[in-house]
Amino acid sequence: MHHFKYRDGKLFAEEVSIADLADKYGTPLYVYSAATFRRHFKAFDSAFNGLDHITCYSVKANSNLSVLKMLAEEGAGMDVVSGGELFRALKAGIPAEKIVYSGVGKKASEIKEALTAGILMFNVESQAELVKINEVAGKMDMVANISIRINPDVDPQTHPYISTGMKKNKFGLDIERSLEAYTMTLDMKNVNAIGMDCHIGSQLTNIDPFLEALDKLLNFYEKLKEIGLDIKYLDLGGGLGINYDEEEPPHPSEFGNALAKKLAGVPLKVILEPGRVIAGNSGVMVTEVIYTKSSSSKNFLIVDSGMNDLVRPSLYGSYHRIGEVTQHKREVKEYDVVGPICESGDFLARDRELPEIKEGERLVLYSAGAYGFTMSSNYNSRPRACELIVDADRVIVARKRETYEDLIANEL
Ligand code: LLP
Repeated sequence: MHHFKYRDGKLFAEEVSIADLADKYGTPLYVYSAATFRRHFKAFDSAFNGLDHITCYSVKANSNLSVLKMLAEEGAGMDVVSGGELFRALKAGIPAEKIVYSGVGKKASEIKEALTAGILMFNVESQAELVKINEVAGKMDMVANISIRINPDVDPQTHPYISTGMKKNKFGLDIERSLEAYTMTLDMKNVNAIGMDCHIGSQLTNIDPFLEALDKLLNFYEKLKEIGLDIKYLDLGGGLGINYDEEEPPHPSEFGNALAKKLAGVPLKVILEPGRVIAGNSGVMVTEVIYTKSSSSKNFLIVDSGMNDLVRPSLYGSYHRIGEVTQHKREVKEYDVVGPICESGDFLARDRELPEIKEGERLVLYSAGAYGFTMSSNYNSRPRACELIVDADRVIVARKRETYEDLIANEL
């Protein structure tokens, strides 16, 4: 459910016409719906009401400060993977004790920043990182709370680039090495193991892989008790999928109910790290057709957004539904929707059926609220897009469009 709907053939974000926004703020343009963000957060969070839990929104999906503030107001915690994300989460007013820090390559400086802030725990991804955290915390005369990210070797049945919980992936530690790592913590003065963690992948459209991973973690929990560890948290990561095209992802409540059943009587506080399921369908990207062009085999719509603005189609072959900002009842044609970037991989959609589209008209790409702007770049020296939040009839400029001066601001 989202709040991007047509009224008399014109697309609205909540109470505001997208065409009016594009006139005023230009394109490419990201438009987020505040009501959709709030709704998704509440639907997700309340799906786990049967469990003692914290919903730690995964900042990487959409890290705009205004978005984070909105989620902070809803009571979200956050999952961060860099010093930069930690900085944003703290700026947004997230209480440090609701922040978990994941990622395979935390630098000593970042570990120090997180310890200074007083985060809930580090999700540790290697024995070397464990040693580093112990060393940094030791120098600061502090004790770092940690969990080990366990790689349960479960196939999440998703795109290989976003599968993370299989043996061949760089993430976490396999069960045996996890046990070694937990055992190491028993002799470490500046590390306290309080949790278990796993994140098996993203855009999962079935809960079975989550449950398979959970079973493995619960077995492992028994071993940790045997070696005398007092584990309090079970972080199950993110990964719940959304509907881009024809997927039928499970509702969070299906996941919540299944977890509540498996965890009945288990004294662990659950942490969830949803990103896409909160942000994905809360945002769209608006673009304008610069030119149309046809070859003997293709019709192209050359639009003013490229792979620098939304890289998912180029990088993963992802599907984003495309619609008109103002609907015309025209004959359907097949198009490649491509950007202005000098790469053949620069496309937003291929072989897509759309009503005939003319130069100067605008298109909307749905499901662009997660991993859209956050993965954007300045490639081809293109200033990054403007981000707006629509809240009922209010429009908030969440990020100004970059200027040419911004492009060179840090260059000497
Ligand atoms: N926790 C950890 C440790 C993660 O690595 C991720 C995502 C999440 C939580 C959130 O997962 P989500 O709920 O959003 O599935 N750029 C890709 C997605 C990469 C996901 C990386 N990790 C895409 O555009 O599909």
